[in-house]
Amino acid sequence: MTENHQTGDSPVAVVVLAAGAGTRMKSATQKTLHAIGGRTLLSHSLHAADALHPDAVVAVVGHGRDQVGPAALAVGEDLTAPLSIAVQENQNGTGDAVAVGMTALEGFEGTVIVTNADVPLLTGDTLAALLAAHTEVPTAVTVLTMRLDDPFGYGRIIRNEAGEVTHIAEQKDATDAELLVDEVNSGVFAFDAAVLRDALTRLTTDNTQGERYITDVLGIARDDGHPVRAHIAEDPRELAGVNDRVQLAAAGAELNRRTVEAAMRGGATVVDPATTWIDVEVTVGQDVTILPGTQLKGRTVIADNVTVGPDTTLVNMEIGEGSTVVRTHGIDSIIGPRADVGPFTYLRPGTVLGEEGKLGGFVEAKNATIGRGSKVPHLTYVGDATIGEYSNIGASSVFVNYDGVNKHHTTVGDHVRTGSDTMFIAPVTVGDGAYSGAGTVIKDDVPAGALVVSGGHQRNIEGWVEKKRPGSPAADAARAAREKDAG
Ligand code: UD1
Ligand code: CA
Repeated sequence: MTENHQTGDSPVAVVVLAAGAGTRMKSATQKTLHAIGGRTLLSHSLHAADALHPDAVVAVVGHGRDQVGPAALAVGEDLTAPLSIAVQENQNGTGDAVAVGMTALEGFEGTVIVTNADVPLLTGDTLAALLAAHTEVPTAVTVLTMRLDDPFGYGRIIRNEAGEVTHIAEQKDATDAELLVDEVNSGVFAFDAAVLRDALTRLTTDNTQGERYITDVLGIARDDGHPVRAHIAEDPRELAGVNDRVQLAAAGAELNRRTVEAAMRGGATVVDPATTWIDVEVTVGQDVTILPGTQLKGRTVIADNVTVGPDTTLVNMEIGEGSTVVRTHGIDSIIGPRADVGPFTYLRPGTVLGEEGKLGGFVEAKNATIGRGSKVPHLTYVGDATIGEYSNIGASSVFVNYDGVNKHHTTVGDHVRTGSDTMFIAPVTVGDGAYSGAGTVIKDDVPAGALVVSGGHQRNIEGWVEKKRPGSPAADAARAAREKDAG
């Protein structure tokens, strides 16, 4: 095994427990597959583990393993550490879960970190601090603890008069005196692999819940004469577990507070942090201004000097330097530098707007490349199209891409000027420098430099309404106008 972790000289492995049922979520989706900040809870925990640069990561799955196992393997593709899956057939307690995890670490010697998949705010930095505390003086077990105003439900950290940790008392097993302790077990530990392996064989189910508790490893190790310590976490907010949807929302808000703060520290102005949501994988440049009601999701990248919002949602979007994106919904698309988008603009997947391009109000684009300096300013659908450079598409035009069975492509050249209400019946090509008249239906290719018009000359059939729609309000209005004209 390589020794590429950050701290200490001995190898490090991380076991992430993800076998629990999560019944309080009341969901067909497994608890750890619910997402905040653009990642599932499971993904957050695996990424935190990976931040230690460990030699191995093991995900212990059980309940809903058909969902959780493949999801873990998919996250594994993005990790630097090798990930393996261990299956806990029956949820016989946290000690049993860790024992299952250890089956994937046969022969491993060094430090085993244990974390939970439902603690999404835990950072790699805190795990690194735990690992450093565990390794700087020889320690067999280090438990990550926190002090809580309301410790109810957690295992209490029990110390002797010398302040040494002796054992952990679970809520349901603790004495009245133990219940008064406000230092609790976060569920995150660092273990010496050999001590852990040995202690796991000696866990009993002699407790209120009839389960094998990982917490009992502390007492066993200490009774064997091994050093056992606690490392108090600086920020207990990091260790908040998610068991229901109320806690999910609270964790999501706390995570967002961090990502929005990081954007501001990176030189972005966020006018209203409370209504700005930024996923963890989003990149925000310098001198970006984010107006209220903006959501930046997925792997969105915002270059420098961009203004986004208000009321804009961008999912996996790339926004070039100096662009303005107002009241827009964009997915899987690219907006070039110094472009102008919105308000009320919908970019569907595969839209590429060139530099200094414009997509204006009530414009929808999909699978369309719009060249440098080209403008689609008003009320238009651009689907399956390539538009060259410095062209202008008139208001209220439609790229008619769908014949009811198949989608077809439209190509528009450079420096084209099309009139309002032009219909491009795909597949069709409009050559460079061509013009179209208002209301043109383009069914056949238009050569470069041509003016295309369609639909013949206007014909007024006088008196048609009074004759064909007698008694209607329109006919009455027409008669009144005629009588007024006649004087
Ligand atoms: C556990 C700790 C408690 C600690 C608390 C922190 C034990 C006995 N108690 O209590 O000291 O304060 O976490 O949140 O460890 N899991 C499995 N397989 C199982 C059982 C659990 O994978 O058979 C996983 C769960 O999915 C969860 C984690 O282990 O991710 C913790 O299990 P849970 O039952 O929630 O333990 P708590 O009662 O919260
Ligand atoms: Ca729990």
